[in-house]
Amino acid sequence: MEVVIVPGAEAGGELIAEAMAQLLRRKPDALLGVATGSTPLPIYEALAAKVDAGAVDVSRARIAQLDEYVGLPTDHPESYRSVLRREVLEPLGLDMAAFMGPDGAAADVQAACTAYDKALAEAGGVDLQLLGIGTDGHIGFNEPCSSLASRTRIKTLTEQTRVDNARFFEGDIAQVPHHVITQGIGTILEARHLVLLATGEGKADAVAATVEGPVAAVCPASALQLHPHATVVVDEAAASKL
Ligand code: GLP
Repeated sequence: MEVVIVPGAEAGGELIAEAMAQLLRRKPDALLGVATGSTPLPIYEALAAKVDAGAVDVSRARIAQLDEYVGLPTDHPESYRSVLRREVLEPLGLDMAAFMGPDGAAADVQAACTAYDKALAEAGGVDLQLLGIGTDGHIGFNEPCSSLASRTRIKTLTEQTRVDNARFFEGDIAQVPHHVITQGIGTILEARHLVLLATGEGKADAVAATVEGPVAAVCPASALQLHPHATVVVDEAAASKL
């Protein structure tokens, strides 16, 4: 695992956007796994700026979703599909033909999960997977004690994650779904390059457990230690307990 400490969120975003741009210059139709949350926004802004400046061509890039709420209509503004359309695809000038994700509104959710795992493999696998990290060490929506070999499946959110995510639902925890679909940890580990960005002091404990703790299901992000090409980019605040 490679750990890169940057001065702040903006520098982290720029560093990772440049890694994505380099990948796309080598492989224009790369499959990019993207994450939601506040942390990756500087990455998406920096990548869109590179596109606007003509420094990289993303027109053939493909975008894969990491996780999704169950039960929100697909066009709900806070479904992760909507969020990614708004925060990633539109700024990059991509339409939904470039996008793949699980169907959180499917009647048979487990079948949608299995179909998504299969679709990722058939698409050639994820080239670069961006990850954020929850305050409890979760990646995607793999909460603590998720199997490190897990595949894409339905999960129940912890109270802490619902509290953390209530800010996207008018601060009202009652509106935060209880169930989600997430790529499993085993699925995530199949990506060729994992890049986790963590910023702010609130992530310092989770980052320390990820980087210096044992590989253990109690900290799902610690599974990155098992991956041959994992990069953890942290600002000084998130690195403060290393
Ligand atoms: C959610 C997402 C994760 C994300 C996490 C942290 O739980 N499912 O993919 O990493 O939030 O979000 P933030 O970056 O806003 O702290």
